[in-house]
Amino acid sequence: MFKEYESRAREILAKMSLKEKIGQLNQAVMPCEDEASKEAFRKRLRNGEIGSVILSLSATAGNDEQKAVVVEMLNDLQKTSVEEGPHGIPLLFGRDVIHGHHTVLPIPLASAASFDPALVTEAYRDVAEDARSEGTNWTFSPMMDICRDPRWGRIIEGYGEDPYLAGQMAAATVKGFQGEDLKDPDSILACAKHYLGYGFSEGGRDYHRTELSDYTVQNVVLAPFREAVKAGVGTVMSSFNDISGEPVTSSKKYLTDILRGQLGFEGFVISDWYSVQQLIRQGIAEEYEDCAHHAINAGLDMDMADEHYSRFLERFVNEGKVSEETVDTAVLRILCVKLAMGLFENTYASPKKVDRKAHIERAERMAAESMILLKNDKNVLPFPKKTRAALIGPYTFERRGLHGSWALDGYLGASTPNMAEAMDDVVAKEGGGCVMVTGGRLNDDSNYIFSHSDHIVLALGESHEDTGEARSVSDISLSPAQIELCKKARLTGRPTVGVVFCGRPVCLTEVEPYLDAILIAWHGGTRAAHAAVRTVFGDYNPCGRAPVTFVRRTGHIPLYYNVTCSGREVNGYYGEGASNCYTDYAGSPLYPFGYGISYTSFEYSVPVCDKTEISYDRLVAGEGFTVSVNVKNVGERVGKEVVQLYIRDPKASMMRPLRELKAFAKVEIAKGEEATVTFEIGSESLGFYKPDGTYVIEKGSFEIYVGPYSTSTQRLDVKVV
Ligand code: GLC
Repeated sequence: MFKEYESRAREILAKMSLKEKIGQLNQAVMPCEDEASKEAFRKRLRNGEIGSVILSLSATAGNDEQKAVVVEMLNDLQKTSVEEGPHGIPLLFGRDVIHGHHTVLPIPLASAASFDPALVTEAYRDVAEDARSEGTNWTFSPMMDICRDPRWGRIIEGYGEDPYLAGQMAAATVKGFQGEDLKDPDSILACAKHYLGYGFSEGGRDYHRTELSDYTVQNVVLAPFREAVKAGVGTVMSSFNDISGEPVTSSKKYLTDILRGQLGFEGFVISDWYSVQQLIRQGIAEEYEDCAHHAINAGLDMDMADEHYSRFLERFVNEGKVSEETVDTAVLRILCVKLAMGLFENTYASPKKVDRKAHIERAERMAAESMILLKNDKNVLPFPKKTRAALIGPYTFERRGLHGSWALDGYLGASTPNMAEAMDDVVAKEGGGCVMVTGGRLNDDSNYIFSHSDHIVLALGESHEDTGEARSVSDISLSPAQIELCKKARLTGRPTVGVVFCGRPVCLTEVEPYLDAILIAWHGGTRAAHAAVRTVFGDYNPCGRAPVTFVRRTGHIPLYYNVTCSGREVNGYYGEGASNCYTDYAGSPLYPFGYGISYTSFEYSVPVCDKTEISYDRLVAGEGFTVSVNVKNVGERVGKEVVQLYIRDPKASMMRPLRELKAFAKVEIAKGEEATVTFEIGSESLGFYKPDGTYVIEKGSFEIYVGPYSTSTQRLDVKVV
């Protein structure tokens, strides 16, 4: 996709001085808005010292309320670069448009819970249009770090613990941002991050080291990046971390041999914020001046924010530590991407009025499809709208928290209704019911409304400020005040639902016994409140499924479904000797990966396979087999089911996971109707990667599980002979 622009890129390159080439490798921090800063910046543009501008003023853009970008300023800088710069090369304007622009979608972990890649692509198309119209032409998204430790604040930004689901979501998001054609004026360049292994930060502590085997890198961590590269992602961001002592930022193995040699990536690699300079702390660089050559010789093309390439590369080339050919290669990659975007032709931002109403509708649909009903005892939900409803909890009046972290440009105020407003709309105005609300504290008010209501909605959750970058926690339980609130509600004997606005799979063990129903609403974005209330009061039938495991105790972390078998009967995830795991608490999940329930119920037939065995040769030649199952809606209303297919290879040359998700289908089935779901299984679902990256399929039998979540037991066997 990008190589086809190489000849045109070479024509530009041939006219460039070494200094101008190095300028293309430099991403500078946007200037402050005062005229002196802008003029100084323009001077650098005229000299060709800058190839891209990061629209962020600090290292943790997701946590600060960063001022939105000003289109006029971006067009002014772009004009200087194109009309007064040495070769008329347009700038890339990069910004963390992670899960929304002015209309905010649910956090990416919530989108993964939708198990609906097509909807994700549709919703992210809106995000691309919204951001591009204001001048951002490059987003540092999607993040696809596999994570098994929900203490890590950045678990919210990825797609959870499963490589297959993460791959499907990563590809869907890339397609949303980049569209069918990167030249489309509503498309923005996407960035697969953080390459590689950042989600395995030790102890869930952000920025910490990771210890990963090649086997885990190949079979778990790399999986979503393979899909993002296949989807044509234009850029990759290197991660802060090391992998078993080798910083990714200066690793030829990861940045060149694997990313380009094995995955075939053709775009360009940008560092993370100051990650070139941090090679000093990581002990790779002797001193301040000694960082840049380690990075560019490894295959890192563009330097974000710390200006090490800008300051030191020319000297390293003159000293022979870096060849000019290496610089040329990096410049060509960047020019090819800019040409593929049509940036030389479609250079300036032209503000347009986006269809905000349609964006908001899609944001609400995305939020509703992501919400997970974990509990619904005695089918207390959905509540009737015509009722006396009590609403209480820390998220009653909260707006900003609904956006979650990394929502730099989200419209707030009335554009993001809170739970009190949503309840008023849905229950009072539409339903003719009445709503009594109070804040998050237990007091006379709350006692009054508890005793004068017929149904109770608790607006619970975690602060968005305990999620995102540099915001890991050591305990993922809800606060004691919220636990107290749930206990009080239980004492009233009234049907009570806990609506949980969270960024990670918070530990619900302490509140679960006191709630009749639990709905995970996530930090669900601009329309999270309405999506949650419409779900609780029956307009929507919940259909999200857990993209991560919900543990019983923080102390059980890491606990994930695709664990390899043990030599002893202690695989607590699947109930095997769960009590052996810990003397104080059963080591099984509170809710397993893939879990979620509905207002209706579904019955599965025994799955059938069109072959009980398949020859190895025909499999590798591209033949496969099908697995079919009938799913019947035996409940009282239409609903969506996520049919999941897992495979286990019980005997192989290396230990394989007890289950691996290999396919899923989200199907809507009317009351009383039955749907047949058929999965095509081929070689890509039966093999695994050796530590050296070789993909192998080994003969023998394979267990295939089909059902509503990871611990489903309906199984059939297929043999590869
Ligand atoms: C941050 C993050 C990265 C983000 C970049 C630019 O430190 O690690 O995800 O895209 O810097 O803000």
